[in-house]
Amino acid sequence: MTHPSIIAIDGPAASGKSTLGFKLAETLGYLFFDTGLMYRAVTWLALQRNVNLKDEAAVTDLAHGVPIEVTPPSLEDGRACDVVVDGHDITWEIRRPEVDANVSAVSAYPGVRQALSEQQRRIGMRGRVVMVGRDIGTVVLPEADLKVYLDASSDERARRRHEENLSRGQQSDFDEILAKVIERDRIDTTRAVAPLKPAPDALILDSDKLSAEQVYQQVIALCRK
Ligand code: DC
Repeated sequence: MTHPSIIAIDGPAASGKSTLGFKLAETLGYLFFDTGLMYRAVTWLALQRNVNLKDEAAVTDLAHGVPIEVTPPSLEDGRACDVVVDGHDITWEIRRPEVDANVSAVSAYPGVRQALSEQQRRIGMRGRVVMVGRDIGTVVLPEADLKVYLDASSDERARRRHEENLSRGQQSDFDEILAKVIERDRIDTTRAVAPLKPAPDALILDSDKLSAEQVYQQVIALCRK
C-alpha cells in the first residue's frame, strides 16, 4: 500500500490543522511542518529589532535573511518542535499576542510570501511530509497527493483558543479572541497574493461538529485507501 507522500493541510486560524497534521505525521513517520511559524518568526524578529511593520521593504529584507531553525523538540513542554532564530529559542515567543496581532499583516506582503514559500516548497518536495498552512494546496505544493481544507466557524475556533488559554492558566477574554479571529480571517482571505481558500481538489472538512479524533480518523482512512 502506498500512502500519499505530500499531504497539504490548509484552513483558518485555530481550525485544528496542527493537531491533525502532527498526529498524521507521527502515524505515517513523516515530517510535520507548520508553515505559520515561519511567518510568526519574521514578525517576531521585526518586533525584536524595532523594524516598522508598515515598512514592507524592510520586513521583506528580514524574511529573505532570517535563518529560521526548526528542529525536533528539546523540551517536553507541549511544543511540537524547537524554533530558533538568531540563537534565541522563540518557540513560545512567536505565540505571544503581539505576534498574533501583526502576523497577518506581515504575511500579506508578497515579498515575504515569496521568500518563505520558496523554502517551504523545497522542504515539501522532498516528500514524506505533512505541511500545514493557508496556501499549501493552492500555491506552495499544488501537486500534493492529498489536500485537506479544515474549516470551523469563527465562534467555535475562538472558543477553542479561549479554552486553550484558560487551561494554560492565562487570562482570556472570549469576545476579544473572537474579534481577533474574525479580523485575521478577513486579512488572510482578502490579501492579493495567495489568499486563504480551499484548493479545487481539496477535501473540505467542517470540524464544528467533529472531535479532533473524528477528523483524524477520516483523514487517516483516506491516506490508507
Ligand atoms: O497558522 P498560524 O496561526 O500560526 O499562522 C500565522 C499567520 O501566518 C496567519 O495569520 C496567516 C499566515 N500564514 C500564511 O499566510 N500562509 C501560511 N502558509 C501559513 C500561515
